[in-house]
Order: sequence, then C-alpha cells, then structure tokens
Amino acid sequence: MGKILNIGIIGVGTVGISVIKTLEENKEIICARTGVDIRVKKGVVRDLKKPRDLTIPLSTDIEDIINDKEIDVVVELMGGIEAAYEVAKKALTNQKALVTANKAMLAYHRYELQQIAGNAPIGFEASVCGGIPIIKALKDGLSANHILSLSGILNGTSNYILTQMIQNHQDFQSALHLAQKLGYAEADPTLDISGGDAGHKLLILASLAYGIDAKPQDILIEGIESINADDIEFANEFGYAIKLLGIAKKQNNQIELRVHPAMIDKNKMIAKIDGVMNGISVIGDRVGETLYYGAGAGGNATASAVISDLIEIARGKSSLMLGFEKSPQVSLKPKDAMESRYYFRLSVDDKSGVLAQIASILTQNNISIGTLLQKEIKHKNIAKILFSTHTTTERAIKNTIAQLQKLDSIIEKPYIIRIEDE
Ligand code: NAP
Ligand code: HSE
Repeated sequence: MGKILNIGIIGVGTVGISVIKTLEENKEIICARTGVDIRVKKGVVRDLKKPRDLTIPLSTDIEDIINDKEIDVVVELMGGIEAAYEVAKKALTNQKALVTANKAMLAYHRYELQQIAGNAPIGFEASVCGGIPIIKALKDGLSANHILSLSGILNGTSNYILTQMIQNHQDFQSALHLAQKLGYAEADPTLDISGGDAGHKLLILASLAYGIDAKPQDILIEGIESINADDIEFANEFGYAIKLLGIAKKQNNQIELRVHPAMIDKNKMIAKIDGVMNGISVIGDRVGETLYYGAGAGGNATASAVISDLIEIARGKSSLMLGFEKSPQVSLKPKDAMESRYYFRLSVDDKSGVLAQIASILTQNNISIGTLLQKEIKHKNIAKILFSTHTTTERAIKNTIAQLQKLDSIIEKPYIIRIEDE
C-alpha cells in the first residue's frame, strides 16, 4: 500500500459521520479494491460543541480544508444551495476533486460546475436515491442507449410517510418526526414533503439522460401534504397504491418532467416499494426496461454512495461530470400540454343539483368520468365526491378546478391526484 488519498469533509452530520465510520470500519476492503489508503484529514462543522464521537480534527472554518495543500478531495456534505456552491467552486479552482451529496445545489448549478471542472473529477452518486448507483447506471452502464423514459420513487422520506399512513394508519406528523429521527429527512423537511427534493433529483437524472438544463421552477412539482384518508380509501377501493413519483419522458425532442403523487396499479413493482426504499425504472431504446431498487436515504446508504465516488477518484477515473454536454436539440414540454388520467376529491354541500353543476363543468372541459364514489357526512350536511377521469390535459384540469371553485356549493379547494396507467 503506497498511495494515500487525503479527504476533507465539509459537513459532519448524518451522512458525514457515516462516511467517516464506513471508511474506518471497511478500510481493508476499500484498500483492497483501490490500492489506495483513503484518509479523512479534517472535518468542518458549524458547532464544535455537538457530541460526535469522532477522533478526526474538526474546525468551523471551511478555508481550513479548501487551503490545505495536502487535501486531494473535498467532500461537501453541508447542504444548502448557494454556500455549498461557493464551497464547490473554491474546491475545484483550488485543483481539488469534489464529491457532493447535495442535490439541491446541483439542481441549480450542475452545468456551471461541469464547466468549471472540465474533466476534473466530480462525484455526485449520493445526490440521487441514496445508496442506489443510478448515476453510474445512467452515465456508464446505459450510455449506449437513448433513454426513452425514467420514472420512480426518488424521495425516501415521503415514501416512508405514505407507507406509515397507508399501512400503519399513523398520522402525517408522527410519521414525519420518525423519518427525521432516522436521519432520512432534509434539514428543511418541507423539501421532502413538497416534492422539491424529488424534483431536484429528477433534474439531475434528466441532465444525465437527455442533456437538458432545467431548474426546479421550470417543472411541475407537487407534494404529498394534502393526501388524506378519502384519497387512500378511493385508491384501495379501485386497486391503486399512492406514491410520490418523479417522471421524465422523451417524445420527439420534447422532455416531459414532473413530480407529483400518483395512483398506480397496486400490482406494479413500483407500487410495492415501501418505507424509505426508492425504486426507478429506466427504459433505454436498446436495453428495454431496467429497474433499480434500494435505500433512498439514511446515513449508511448515502455513505455507501459517497465512498463509491471516492473509490472512483482513488482509481484515477474521471470524465465529464454529467457524461455529456447540454443538448441544444431538446426542450421542456409545456406543463399545460401534459396528459394523464386524474382522480378528483370534492367536498360539497349535500343538496340537489350539485352533481349536475359539477357534471356540466366537466362536460364544458371535455372531461369524462371513469369511476365515482360518493360519501355522505350526515351531521355536517356535506358530501364527498370522489371520481376518476379519462385521459385529459393539465390545461383542461386547471380550467375545471378554477370553474369548480367558483361554485357556492364547493366547500374546499378541489384536490386531484394523477393516475399513471403506463
Ligand atoms: P445534517 O445531518 O444536517 O448535517 C449537515 C452538516 O453540515 C452538519 O455537520 C452541520 O454542522 C454542517 N454544516 C451546515 N452548514 C454549515 C456551514 N455553513 N458551515 C460548516 N458546516 C456546516 O445533513 P445530512 O443529512 O448529513 O445531509 C448532508 C447533505 O447530504 C445534504 O446536502 C443532503 O441533502 C444530502 N443527503 C442526505 C441524505 C440523508 O439521508 N440524510 C441522503 C442523500 C443526500 P453542525 O453539525 O455543527 O450543525
Ligand atoms: N431527504 C432525502 C430523502 C434524503 O428522504 O430521500 C435522500 O436524498
């Protein structure tokens, strides 16, 4: 064993601590696989007083790592967007390799970083789907293919919450608290719940698959925060599971990108992925469908991905960060033109004529009903109308919701969930 790779870790929290422990505990196998001794020289944190049970030197000054000439790789595990981007730029301009798990930063700055880095190594395997090696699958394993579509469960926290709510009848808040305790959630968990985190990951995958440069604000992103027991009951009744999905599809040169809760056939493989697990289906024009499954969050699973990047750097491999340059040929499909079937939940005054008013608005928007369930809440004189539609466009759905909201008999904002049949 001759060679040493010195690393500095900026952010020694859930993931940082697991990286340090895994490098210590699996040192022998990692050395055997790389012929290199990967050593953590320093860590940077915000609060030196927090108990961490570590022996590596810690400081609160990022420059201690950036300006250390002996450090070969900066591992950014602090989170956030702009401060982390500054760290990444400084690391690269100081001739260091960079490893990051920060999907939020990459969702905004991946193409700038690629430009700064050129062929210098940047690893970001941990940024999408925790321990699943999906970045390497897209960048290397499937690189002979045109990617026709990719779709799946990209956020562990929201899948964990949905599983707890649907299978264990736990309420939303307690399920979220548990996910935070287990180290799955982001520092700001609204990113998990609102679909934002899954959106960040989808954008990274879409760049690897299609060379498209889009930002979170450009794509359709909805979260799981409004799903309730009525939706779960309807889904059960009609054979669906409810999952937060990230979907990317290419048709001609248009890329459709969306993140939202979806009702999917209970018998599909993706419907059976529960708890913190993530799963992605990628369809290539040559290989057909491929499926990836594994822990989507948590210290150890994420450390496994971070260290796989370190091992690649230790082995001396490097290539263009995203695998290829931004493609001038592709554009984003407009949100309004996307098509789907939809589930509607309406709360209305329980009186005659209301159903006819709703039916009239649906007809004006050329939307036809599939299945329908009506429930009475007698003591409140409220009816819940739950129904699915045939395929229609986002534009028609938006118009329909706007018109429904104007009816006096509508008690709360209509809620929709898309139904994914493919
Ligand atoms: P975390 O537990 O909150 O740890 C963040 C660490 O960064 C802490 O040690 C914190 O210091 C430090 N830090 C934050 N801001 C800093 C600053 N301005 N200067 C110096 N240190 C700073 O977060 P985490 O769960 O490990 O996540 C880290 C990154 O990995 C994030 O980008 C996250 O999105 C990503 N990620 C996480 C997971 C997961 O399952 N947790 C999975 C995949 C990717 P203190 O400890 O002193 O507060
Ligand atoms: N908060 C993220 C999740 C961490 O729950 O999926 C993994 O990226």
